[in-house]
Amino acid sequence: MNPVKLKNNIYWVGAIDWDLRNFHGYLTQRGSTYNSYLIVDEKVVLIDTVKRSKYEEMLERIGKVVDPRRIDYLVINHVEMDHSGALPCIMDLLPNATIITSPHGRKGLLRHFKREWRVEEVSSGDSLSTGTKDLRFILTPMVHWPDSMMTYDEGSGILFSNDAFGQHLATYERFDDEIEQWLVMEEAKKYYANIVLSYGKQVCKALEAVSDYELELIAPAHGIIWRSYCSEITAGYHRWANNRTSEKAIIVYDTMWNSTRIIAETIYRAFEEEGVKVTMANLATNHISDIMTELVDAKYICVGSPTLNNNMLPTVAAFLTYLKGLAPKERVGLAFGSYGWGGQSIDLVEDTLRRCRFDLPVEKIKVNYIPDEKELDEIKRRVKTMLGAPEAVS
Ligand code: FEO
Repeated sequence: MNPVKLKNNIYWVGAIDWDLRNFHGYLTQRGSTYNSYLIVDEKVVLIDTVKRSKYEEMLERIGKVVDPRRIDYLVINHVEMDHSGALPCIMDLLPNATIITSPHGRKGLLRHFKREWRVEEVSSGDSLSTGTKDLRFILTPMVHWPDSMMTYDEGSGILFSNDAFGQHLATYERFDDEIEQWLVMEEAKKYYANIVLSYGKQVCKALEAVSDYELELIAPAHGIIWRSYCSEITAGYHRWANNRTSEKAIIVYDTMWNSTRIIAETIYRAFEEEGVKVTMANLATNHISDIMTELVDAKYICVGSPTLNNNMLPTVAAFLTYLKGLAPKERVGLAFGSYGWGGQSIDLVEDTLRRCRFDLPVEKIKVNYIPDEKELDEIKRRVKTMLGAPEAVS
């Protein structure tokens, strides 16, 4: 278990979680890493720790650079347990070390661990001299917890960005240009969609706060380190945080006896005929966290469910709960589905889309039992009206 050198006297000493498949509901099919970084200067600094179960792996890597008992400072950029779980273990070796964190970080550490450590609170702009280096702290509240902050090393141009710019991706390689670019961008987009999406305004503030810094490396707390594609990932965050969508649609649905599927396929054809790129996501075969990745840059979101016991199908309810929590903005929505007698599912879907504050320019699509040709034509017409197609509104 070797450390990886980023720059002179700065090392990655984190841990790789090859087995992780579920991160509070997010399907992490490629595992993850918990990234800790070690700065060896006149003072020795550890930036973030790892999940408790990975403590020994981190300690082994640190030990190949320096005696872990020489650590003077621990910078805790974020209290969530994937980064602070191993903190009590390492603090047992370091009774005289000082923890550097935000005011919310201090409160969070106390609530998590109930331990009286030496803690120094920092605000945005504060710095810490390690001897030859100055570490500058940038508070980035709600990206994605109140305590979140980043640490910038002016000497090396490394931004230790914690969760921001991360990816759940377990790899032997540590740098972006050592693996396929599409893969790292795809996982970064999925990470944004499932962890950061709710906090677009706060992301914009964080991007503004780091815009004056020269970024030679962006070293997040998960996944690979950005070296060759720093401008690509920051541009991606700008796009996603500003809700820049494209003329793209996603149709999310589940079905009982195929009627809702037939409606979904008819909606698909209408988009296709208007030249709008469209993705189908059957909830029986797609994970909601993968659907969120597709949804990050989709302008149109169509959600369908048949009615079951006066309600929508549980898969659709789970998706809508997840969607509402992640709160994508500035989207156009459409509810659809089939029913036998009650028909409540379509009303419930539409109600949730409305509560997401989506624009709902056309009436929901509600079909009794099985759609006939006339109804299929009407479905297409309604989608085309939503798109503003001239033939639909004439
Ligand atoms: Fe990677 Fe918010 O923890």
